[in-house]
Amino acid sequence: MYSSSPFIFSLLLLLSIPAIFYVAPRILPPKTLPAIPDLDEADDLALFRRATLSSSSSLRLPPPPSPPKIAFLFLTNSDLSFAPLWELFFRGHHRSFNLYIHLDPNSKLNYSLLTPSFVGRFIPAKATQRGSPTLISAARRLLAAALLDDPSNAFFALISQHCVPLHSFRIAYRTLFSSPRLPSHRRKSFIEIVAHEPNLMNRYVARGDGFMLPEIPFEDFRVGSQFFVLARRHAVAVVRDRRLWKKFRVPCLKAREDSCYPEEHYFPTLLSMQDSEGCTHYTLTRVNWTGSVGGHPHLYGPGEVTADLVRELRRSNSTYSYLFARKFAPACLEPLMRIAESVILRD
Ligand SMILES: *[C@@H]1O[C@H](CO)[C@@H](O)[C@H](O)[C@H]1NC(C)=O
Ligand SMILES: *[C@@H]1O[C@H](CO)[C@@H](O)[C@H](O)[C@H]1NC(C)=O
Ligand SMILES: *[C@@H]1O[C@H](CO)[C@@H](O)[C@H](O)[C@H]1NC(C)=O
Repeated sequence: MYSSSPFIFSLLLLLSIPAIFYVAPRILPPKTLPAIPDLDEADDLALFRRATLSSSSSLRLPPPPSPPKIAFLFLTNSDLSFAPLWELFFRGHHRSFNLYIHLDPNSKLNYSLLTPSFVGRFIPAKATQRGSPTLISAARRLLAAALLDDPSNAFFALISQHCVPLHSFRIAYRTLFSSPRLPSHRRKSFIEIVAHEPNLMNRYVARGDGFMLPEIPFEDFRVGSQFFVLARRHAVAVVRDRRLWKKFRVPCLKAREDSCYPEEHYFPTLLSMQDSEGCTHYTLTRVNWTGSVGGHPHLYGPGEVTADLVRELRRSNSTYSYLFARKFAPACLEPLMRIAESVILRD
């Protein structure tokens, strides 16, 4: 009797070891931010395969007969408040663009705000969160949908609900297709690619030290705005990629949440590794980081919208003036519409 109790005690102790491994992950807070659901990944893989296949087979076909188009990819989780302004921008150019919308299924949209160009342009979407690779997935889904939909889509512009145009469609089109005789394989993508930034190392190790190796050495890690305009061959490269995605799809460590901005790294890193020469290394979407709080840029309010602001936002240090700007609060619609014809869309 007495002699058996130390035995039972040690037996219980022994049995409790696997139990700790079983129970601990269920009661301790998770070490990482939420992962992408496996089912979403499987759906995406099937879509991306189809888009890659159809695009590589169309490379061997003669170029599409219609003039090249711009695919506008709207990535949103709230109302498309500036639809009326974009509608003016698109007016008269319906043969030169297509529009696609990825709306977070958890958001409630006021559909009565949509203007004709936006109606029926929603693609199958999945939930998105800030600081998560779900934003990359959403952008890739938009690229895949646009690649599959129309072989005439030659440029792919990512736009959010807070973006506004700074120029007319004619100027945007002329900027992208600056040399009409330039063969499509030499068209450049307008994507910001920055190699030196003070926080780059913290962001590189957001999933753990050495985690990105061997696919992505630190020397190849880049940062840049998610708001790009990609040439078609680069859109295909993004949708085809499995190698870098294997790393970027992994959620950041909870402890390094403040350095978690996967969507600002995936696209510039991938394209800089695959075809740095084929990219401008700057974006056409202006943003104001002065006085930014919590990783959010300045949000323009209705009181700030003037003709002078539009002219100021267009000004860039690159060859081309900015075509788009962010972020604007929904209430800016009215003052923006007031200067749309006289300033924004005036050539
Ligand atoms: C949707 O937008 C319309 C037009 O601006 C507005 O009248 C209506 O109140 C909005 N509905 C909701 C539920 O916000
Ligand atoms: C950028 O935002 C700051 C406020 O954070 C504002 O004072 C400044 O005028 C803005 N710059 C431009 C060019 O709009
Ligand atoms: C242009 O370059 C100057 C000097 O480097 C910089 O101060 C300014 O912010 C830049 N302007 C824009 C719009 O990027």
